[in-house]
Amino acid sequence: EDADVAWIDGLVEEVHGDELIINCTSGKKVTANVSSVYPKDVEVKRSGVEDMTRLAYLHEPGVLRNLKSRYGMNEIYTYTGNILIAVNPFQRLPHLYNDHMMEMYKGAEFGELSPHPFAMADRAYRLMMNYGISQAILVSGESGAGKTESTKMLMQYLAFMGGKVESGGRSVQQQVLESNPVLEAFGNAKTVRNNNSSRFGKFVELQFDQNGKISGAAIRTYLLERSRVCQISDPERNYHCFYMLCAAPPEDRERYKLGDASLFHYLNQSNCIKLDGMDDSSEYIATRRAMDIVGISSDEQDAIFRVVAAILHLGNVEFSEGSEADSSVPKDDKSQFHLRTAAELFMCDEKSLEESLCKRVMVTRGESIVRNLDSRAAALSRDALARIVYSRLFDWLVNKINTTIGQDPTSKLLIGVLDIYGFESFKTNSFEQFCINLTNEKLQQHFNQHVFKMEQEEYTKEEIDWSYIQFVDNQDILDLIEKKPGGIIALLDETWYVQVMV
Ligand SMILES: Nc1ncnc2c1ncn2[C@@H]1O[C@H](COP(=O)(O)OP(=O)(O)O)[C@@H](O)[C@H]1O
Ligand SMILES: [Mg+2]
Repeated sequence: EDADVAWIDGLVEEVHGDELIINCTSGKKVTANVSSVYPKDVEVKRSGVEDMTRLAYLHEPGVLRNLKSRYGMNEIYTYTGNILIAVNPFQRLPHLYNDHMMEMYKGAEFGELSPHPFAMADRAYRLMMNYGISQAILVSGESGAGKTESTKMLMQYLAFMGGKVESGGRSVQQQVLESNPVLEAFGNAKTVRNNNSSRFGKFVELQFDQNGKISGAAIRTYLLERSRVCQISDPERNYHCFYMLCAAPPEDRERYKLGDASLFHYLNQSNCIKLDGMDDSSEYIATRRAMDIVGISSDEQDAIFRVVAAILHLGNVEFSEGSEADSSVPKDDKSQFHLRTAAELFMCDEKSLEESLCKRVMVTRGESIVRNLDSRAAALSRDALARIVYSRLFDWLVNKINTTIGQDPTSKLLIGVLDIYGFESFKTNSFEQFCINLTNEKLQQHFNQHVFKMEQEEYTKEEIDWSYIQFVDNQDILDLIEKKPGGIIALLDETWYVQVMV
């Protein structure tokens, strides 16, 4: 094992008990324990194998070596039985995903053509049609690995297979595909790991009729990261839609009283405003067009962007100490201006908005007590309002898309595609990373059970000894976090309960 390149290979020169002296291909001589050394398949071609199950030895160095040799030849996809492994190419490969490719994979025997997401989608579609059983495709991997891109290809292929030819208007498959750019504008952001990182989980259900045509769809989303709305740090960005709106055509910027993105506190806490290869003003136009297609009316679009702009103005409201003890007021004319503009855009009363930020109302036994908040607490309630409004806006969008696309109540067949936020670990991690990473652990557990259980059943059937199949079971981690009682979440719940009681 090597700290820089994961694994290195070589020839064993001497054996002293458990200690091996190895002459590495790199020229280095190393000593290693026999337990940390794996046999290398010397027969395997330089170009590797399309399916890992064909490797003579299925261990980590063997798997990584195979992926690396294939990647070196721009083969980014590899099978492990019926699982597809994708390695992020970090460059556009349009020839891999065009109509011609979809035609090729249509109905081709699984494994006959090169590994590809289209083959996975085709397989799910065939299984559904031939056996009348709904299917689900799980996409997992750490943040930036390529899950969302792969999901889009799966959906592209399913829309191709299940698309209905319609005369004019918007077809279901088109609406489903165009829901991606809309959700990404409001739910994706640049992180350290990924310039277009999904900050929410998504399960898309495509419903089909008896003829295998898409007849409806439902999009379920999970837990949008809220803290990002008012807190970002270098080199990250807030949600894309904020920058898009600040780069909108002049008449729209005027309408929402916006200027350059760098003027807004919620955006300028990070020095990263512009992204290489992403033009916010053309993205704005594209998002508007996608909204048209999914069926969001222009009045609704206006309302959505008013809320987005209002949040930016809200973020620029600062507070200073008021005349009464521990009270607060908008700091100066500038803050007063942003407060007024936020109220106009929200279409609410300016005074009520100010009071909701600078005061707290407590209701006890039917009586309500109004308490002043100091400037620090007022800034916190400003941020809390921004977060909650944004996450409700996102939920509203998802709902809206679902109602306009519509579900088919008679459909008995569906294919679900799960695309979640991948595992991540930053310099500072919050409760949200905790939740994201727990989701990934749970998905891993599902994967383990599904894959290894299936494999073991197969072995038992053929009376093969399977006791040597080893895998790292993450059940201990799940127990630590979510076991009842005593797990971390149960303890957190209890603490909260006690605080409320007090
Ligand atoms: N198959 C692919 N072809 C081209 N670029 C890709 C592909 N997969 C990933 N990428 C690049 O990597 C970035 C991150 O991928 P993404 O799917 O957003 O990761 P994840 O959803 O796993 O966090 C994309 O924005 C894209 O630039
Ligand atoms: Mg993603």
